[in-house]
Amino acid sequence: MSGPSTYIPKSGLEKWIDQRLPLPRLMHDTMQTFPTPRNLNIWYTFGGILTFCLGVQIITGIVLAMHYVANAGLAFDSVEKIMRDVNYGWLIRYIHANGASMFFLAVYIHMFRGLYYGSYKAPRELIWILGVLIYLLMMATAFFGYVLPWGQMSFWGATVITNLFSAIPVIGQHIATWLWGDFAVGDATLNRFFSLHYLLPFIIAAVVGLHIWALHVPGNNNPLGIDVKSPQDTLPFHPYYTVKDAFYLCLYVILFAAFVFYSPDFFGNPDNYQPANPLVTPPDIVPEWYLLPYYAMLRSVPNKLLGVLVMGLALVTLVLLPWLDTSRVRSLRFRPVMKQFFWVFAVDCVLLGYCGSQSVEAVAFGIPLVIVARLGTVYYLAYFWVLMPIIGLIETPKKLPASIAQSVLGDKAVAAAE
Ligand code: HEM
Repeated sequence: MSGPSTYIPKSGLEKWIDQRLPLPRLMHDTMQTFPTPRNLNIWYTFGGILTFCLGVQIITGIVLAMHYVANAGLAFDSVEKIMRDVNYGWLIRYIHANGASMFFLAVYIHMFRGLYYGSYKAPRELIWILGVLIYLLMMATAFFGYVLPWGQMSFWGATVITNLFSAIPVIGQHIATWLWGDFAVGDATLNRFFSLHYLLPFIIAAVVGLHIWALHVPGNNNPLGIDVKSPQDTLPFHPYYTVKDAFYLCLYVILFAAFVFYSPDFFGNPDNYQPANPLVTPPDIVPEWYLLPYYAMLRSVPNKLLGVLVMGLALVTLVLLPWLDTSRVRSLRFRPVMKQFFWVFAVDCVLLGYCGSQSVEAVAFGIPLVIVARLGTVYYLAYFWVLMPIIGLIETPKKLPASIAQSVLGDKAVAAAE
C-alpha cells in the first residue's frame, strides 16, 4: 500500500482485531483515506461498477445452480423449469443472462478508458496485464455459461469453438477429443463446462483482488495522465469517490433493469430457445455480441489455423501493449495525432463486431463483409504494432499542465493554498 497507514482504532475491539488481523486498517487505508486524484471523471466509476457486476453474477449464478441440471438430456428443461416454476426464477435468470452483457459493456468501457488515458503505461503495467487476464477469464466463463442452457446456439457454439483446437497440426484432433471428454460435444462436455463455469468467477474474483492491490501501489492514473505531485492534487476516496461511484452505479443499474424488465431477450439469440439438436445445424452460428469482433477476425482469414493464430495474436497484443506504446505522454488528450487513430480504432472494433454478427457471405453497400473484416483485422493489428510504436516516437505532444490541482482549480486557487 502506498504511504504510511493513517488508521487509528476507535475502540478496544478494533484495536484487538487490528493487532491480530489488520483488515479494518486495510479497508480504512484503501476505501476511506486513500489519496485519489481530484480530477477523476465518470469513466473512473466503471471499476466499481465491474466489482458490482461480478458480485451480481456470482450471487445469481449460485441460485441458478441450485435448480439447474447439468445433464444433456435434462439441462434445457431444467432451465425452462427455472423460468416457469421456480419462484422468481425468471428474474434471477434474466439478471444473470443480461448481467453478462452488462459486465462486458462495463469492461469494454473500462478498457477503452485505460487505452485513452494511457493507464497501462509505467508504473501500471501489471494492473493492465492482470486486467487482460481477467478479460480472458471472463470470455472463457461467458463461453462456458452460454453452453449450459443446451439450446441450439449453445451446442453449435460449443462445437465451433472447441473445433478450433483441431486446427493445430498433428495433435489438434486429440486436444479437441480431450476437451470434449468424448468423440463429440455431449454430456461429458456439458458437465465439465458447468464445473468450470462455476469455478472461474471465483478465480476472477481473486485476480480482481490482485488487480486492485496493484492499483493501490502507484495509485490511480487520471484523465491528464500526469503524476500526483502534492497533496493538493488528491482527495480522500471517501466521501468524494464513494458518493460519485454510488451515483453512477445507480444509473448503470437503471439501464440494467431496463433490459431485464423491458427487453430481457435483447442480447439473446432466438435459436437458443430450441433444444440442442446435433443433427440440425442452424443457418448462422453466432456468438454473443461481446465476442463478435474476434469471431470476425477468425472468419476473415481463409485458413482455419491462420485464423486461430490471428485471433490469438489480437489477444496477446493486449498483454504487450505497455511496451508497444513508445510515447512519453500517457493521456491521449495531449496526443493530437494518436487520438485520431484511437477513434478510428474504436470504430474499427464496432465494425468488426458487426461483421462477426452477419453471415460469411453477407454484402453491405456492394462490399463483401469478409473483405471489411479483413481490413478491420489489419487495422486492429497495425494500430498496436505499427501506429503505436511509430507515432509515439514522432508525434509532438501538447504542453502538459503543471499539476492536477492547477488544471482543476486554476493558478490562483493553487497559489492561495500554498
Ligand atoms: C472484473 C473485472 C474488473 C474489475 C472488477 C476491475 C476493477 C478495477 C477498479 C476498481 C479499478 C479502480 C477504479 C477505476 O479506475 O475504474 C480499476 C482500474 C484499472 N483497471 Fe480494472 N477491473 C476489471 C477489469 C479490467 C480489465 C479487463 C482491464 C484491462 C484489460 C483493466 C484495466 C485497469 C487499469 C489499467 C486500471 C487503472 C486505471 C487508471 O488508474 O487509470 N481492468 N479496475
